[in-house]
Amino acid sequence: MKQSRTWWKEGIVYQIYPRSFQDTTGNGVGDIQGIVKRLDYIKRLGIDIIWLCPVYQSPNDDNGYDISDYQNIMDEFGTMADFDELLEEMHRRDLKLVMDLVVNHTSDEHKWFQESRKSRDNPYRDYYHWWPAENGKPPKRFSYFDVDGNAWKYDEPTDSYYLHYFSVKQPDLKWENPKVRQEIYDMMHFWFKKGVDGFRMDVIPFISKDTSYPELPDEYNGNFIPFYANGPKLHEYLHEMNKEVLSKYDIMTVGETPGVDRDQALLFVDEDREELNMFFHFELMSLDRDGDEVFWMRKDPWKLSEFKKIHSDWDETFAKKGWGSMFLSNHDNPRTVSRWGNDSPEHWYNSATMLHTFLLTMKGTPYFYYGDEIGMTNIRFDNIDDYQDINTLNRYELLKQQGINTETFIANEKDASRDNGRTPMQWDASENAGFSKKKPWLKVHPNHKDGLNVAEQEKDKSSVLNYFKKMVQIRKTHLGLVYGNYQLLVKYSEEVYAYTRSMDSENYLVLLSFSEQKAVIQLTDFMGKEMKLLISNDTNSALKDNANFELKPYQACVYKVD
Ligand code: GLC
Repeated sequence: MKQSRTWWKEGIVYQIYPRSFQDTTGNGVGDIQGIVKRLDYIKRLGIDIIWLCPVYQSPNDDNGYDISDYQNIMDEFGTMADFDELLEEMHRRDLKLVMDLVVNHTSDEHKWFQESRKSRDNPYRDYYHWWPAENGKPPKRFSYFDVDGNAWKYDEPTDSYYLHYFSVKQPDLKWENPKVRQEIYDMMHFWFKKGVDGFRMDVIPFISKDTSYPELPDEYNGNFIPFYANGPKLHEYLHEMNKEVLSKYDIMTVGETPGVDRDQALLFVDEDREELNMFFHFELMSLDRDGDEVFWMRKDPWKLSEFKKIHSDWDETFAKKGWGSMFLSNHDNPRTVSRWGNDSPEHWYNSATMLHTFLLTMKGTPYFYYGDEIGMTNIRFDNIDDYQDINTLNRYELLKQQGINTETFIANEKDASRDNGRTPMQWDASENAGFSKKKPWLKVHPNHKDGLNVAEQEKDKSSVLNYFKKMVQIRKTHLGLVYGNYQLLVKYSEEVYAYTRSMDSENYLVLLSFSEQKAVIQLTDFMGKEMKLLISNDTNSALKDNANFELKPYQACVYKVD
């Protein structure tokens, strides 16, 4: 069945972490003018939509995810005039702009919170979640970024605790208060009236809370994310937001949805329910993690059969209703090729391009994170002093306080930390990689000097970058790769991910090797069929004879089948 056509299903998204993209003022921090400067580059990639991480005013406790003014631009990034110019220049190039909407919490420096904490009868008191100290200690709630892991913070002026699922500087907004919801809807209208084309909604399932703050039910002990994601009025609020705001514009929405399972998926994205368009599930991002709050890496390596199952199951979830979003990294995760491919010199090229082939041949809107197009890799800091991320720094503090040896933690962070995905964009081989004239806020990966940069890859016809552009054009010129049905083949192979995409008489076969060795498979259904190779990241087609395929390490091939 073909789903209804829309621009956000056919578009390709490029996510920008503005702090790390391009500095034009020489302060070591990226800015809005830096993005304007690079719009032609982004357009040349074949991108249609930019998702911009927060650029609002913020004290940067969590790099912009702690907003102190929703309707102003962070000083380090520029001014509202810069923003308006960005939007205009994007629209002139037929690029859409999706902003980040961070409304589970604000910064503690937001004027609403400044007021709220002043007195118990302040008009803004009820904008946040407060627990009066005379009621005793509040029921346990966990916090991600708190050095004590405690989401309730005692606040002296009113002798009460406030709730913060993230850092102490990110108090949670009280959505149960209709005034809060109205303020948020007004703010969303403000941005839509300017012309922005959508929102990515930060931890959106967390917004609804049971304000009797019951003790955490046993089943959620140590596993609090599904509890946070299942607030009683979540869908009522999302539907209301849709009615009040979203439905009035031609825009796209994508929720970040930790704690949301497949059986809840359509509650968010079934068109008839009028809530969101898409969301980012967390099943893949949890595949190599053991769920422990401090140590994230799984002891045993993840298996390709698990990777395939996750994607096949989610594809089935959205087969008739809703629409998926495909991604392999973002600003909260390590680099794509280091995590899902193999960044050793021998396999880096093939695995980076194989993963591009994967995202661009699956059903669901593909999201690429800046730098992935050139195959940027994890920096793997050894030293805690090199890290900037509150998530790493506060978990490190927590361990130190508990007297636990931090060596294993650092070894873990080398691969798992968010800072791996936040190092500055590698534009060229010069000092600081063309990102900035001054020392960047986070170290640049030294491999920008070894060809891993835009300038060199633009010149090299067989670079990861040029493969990316070619693959993007293949998706754009074959509608069956966007809307066609997906079917998994060779389910149990731990070496090859093979699937077909088909729509009407258009059929494609995609073969992806995730192996460091040569891999051989036979697909008897394809015997005698005419196979036209659309692209391969290696010198040859993998097709030998009689539907026998031999793939080089990390080889990717896409065939049109007649
Ligand atoms: C989301 C963001 C992450 C941020 C957190 C708190 O998970 O993606 O970067 O730290 O929410 O806002």
